Amino acid sequence: MQLLDGKKTAAEIKIEVAEEIQRVKSKGGKTPHLAAVLVGNSGASVTYVNAKITACETVGMHSSIVRMNDTVTEKELLEEVDRLNKDNDVDGFIVQLPLPKHISDKKVTEAISPDKDVDGFHPWNIGKMMLNLPTFLPATPYGILQLIERYNIETTGKHCVVVGRSSIVGSPIANLMSRNSYPGNCTVTLTHSRTVNLKEITLSADILIVALGKPEFITADMVSEGVVVFDVGITRKADKTKKSGYKLFGDVEFKGVSEKASFITPVPGGVGPMTIVSLLKNTLLAAKGK
Ligand code: GUN
Repeated sequence: MQLLDGKKTAAEIKIEVAEEIQRVKSKGGKTPHLAAVLVGNSGASVTYVNAKITACETVGMHSSIVRMNDTVTEKELLEEVDRLNKDNDVDGFIVQLPLPKHISDKKVTEAISPDKDVDGFHPWNIGKMMLNLPTFLPATPYGILQLIERYNIETTGKHCVVVGRSSIVGSPIANLMSRNSYPGNCTVTLTHSRTVNLKEITLSADILIVALGKPEFITADMVSEGVVVFDVGITRKADKTKKSGYKLFGDVEFKGVSEKASFITPVPGGVGPMTIVSLLKNTLLAAKGK
């Protein structure tokens, strides 16, 4: 078994992004600027946004956080999105999800200018992705593609099984893995909560991408020898023995599954850091597009 080390790969990509930023700057270009809107105080969202901001600093990118109380109205949030759309210094921005229940994710996502939608969540950008036109790819699927490339994982003709159909991960990665390119050219099966005989399907996977948010859902009896596993899940469980007060769990029961897998991402340190560098790459692209 070989570990797909997202932390190490992300660090390598960050150096490349930093070099590219220096090249742009040395030619008199603008320093890219990523803004993140964070609504409320959810521990996980605060951690993710802080990690994104820290990553910007590491590569020499400007960043800013717009913090809003969880009592903010939908109208106020939409006004902030409009302000960021018009702010010429901001090349790209994200609104961290999930949002409080009284705010529509859909309305907020659709209000973001597609040119600044570095999360790749706007319907126009999703449409472009589906048509294989150049666009911002959603960060987590993009991160998985980069791991596949960096580890030279064969994808052509393979059976790729995706577990979970979210619009952020499952649905776009299923599309990307079926593209006529590398990574791609897989036969893809997209499974979800209503799938019957899931185990029969996962057992036939050459590549298994799990993104359903259920800790340790995939067990060793559900996979075959040699499978390549991408574990997108990241669930926090209270753990007093940890300094942070919690322990992180993936959607895959790592110990058992890693004994059968040829490649597997750990949690943490697998897909997570790759998501962050993908966002940096998209922001660089947004800045260059100007
Ligand atoms: N919440 C979980 N993943 C993401 C992501 O990639 N982007 C945003 N904006 N929110 C998220």
